[in-house]
Amino acid sequence: MTLAIDARGLRKRFGRTEVLAGLDLAVPSGTVFALLGPNGAGKTTTINILTTLIRPDAGSARVAGYDVVEQGDDVKRRISLTGQAAAVDEVLTATENVVMMGRLSGLSRREAHSRAAALLERFELTDAAGRRVGTYSGGMRRRLDLALSLVVPVSVLFLDEPTTGLDTRSRKELWSVIRSLADDGTTVFLTTQYLEEADRLADRIAVLDRGRVAAEGTAGELKARIGGDVVELRDADGLLLVELPTDGTVHGLRAAIDELDRLPVASAPGGVVSIRRPSLDDVFLAITDRAAAPAPELIESK
Ligand SMILES: Nc1ncnc2c1ncn2[C@@H]1O[C@H](COP(=O)(O)OP(=O)(O)O)[C@@H](O)[C@H]1O
Ligand SMILES: [Mg+2]
Repeated sequence: MTLAIDARGLRKRFGRTEVLAGLDLAVPSGTVFALLGPNGAGKTTTINILTTLIRPDAGSARVAGYDVVEQGDDVKRRISLTGQAAAVDEVLTATENVVMMGRLSGLSRREAHSRAAALLERFELTDAAGRRVGTYSGGMRRRLDLALSLVVPVSVLFLDEPTTGLDTRSRKELWSVIRSLADDGTTVFLTTQYLEEADRLADRIAVLDRGRVAAEGTAGELKARIGGDVVELRDADGLLLVELPTDGTVHGLRAAIDELDRLPVASAPGGVVSIRRPSLDDVFLAITDRAAAPAPELIESK
């Protein structure tokens, strides 16, 4: 098995905050890998190290076979990064944006135009290709971001919280586009705060906690540790009264609802029972015995 990303013992500290405390990652080529963690966990820091933007204080990482510190230029030629902030030019059309990026990357005019047409078609932007990007929705911009990052074919694509801020429909559209990239053999490394997103997209998931990988595996393996859907009872004001984890089977759900029925709180006036998918907090509770930590800067400012 070839590893597209092989990171060992990565450490990074900003002032007194130790963000990465010995992070290990092994991402097989051609797979989608999700780094899952709450805000402030160190996801962007990890991406910045793997994409050569910052240096680790200790540890080492190889990306596409090259060392990120010693062979940064070799790494850069084989990767692309779509960051949390969009890099598109609002006054240009989508076609103009992609052609410009193609020209900057050394394509001829003709190559740049045919590449733009192919990429915009692939990201379902053909109909809007001639519109100024300033008029695009958030989901369309994110797809254009992806198209721009793929003007030159790369072997590893880094996506930092690709769907944060998007509505449900745009998020789903982006998911299918990301999956299709991996089907072509591109390795995709993405960060997310959403368990559902990691579950839908990733072959393997690593949970980032306190600067280390607290758990790693397929979505199925992680879910086996977390359990299935959660049955919850809220009072008329939406306040959580009780929640019962289940194994996600019909039998398990029925048993949980029966158990709920036997509890005194079940007779709370206006109480509402609902079933929800496990959240990032459920993952953290299962893996670390506590809820997802709030961002360190929030703690410091208190
Ligand atoms: N350049 C920096 N200088 C100081 N602190 C930083 C810097 N970059 C990140 N941090 C801190 O490191 C922690 C992790 O940040 P980050 O990697 O952006 O987390 P995430 O992407 O998971 O939200 C945060 O507490 C953040 O404030
Ligand atoms: Mg981030």
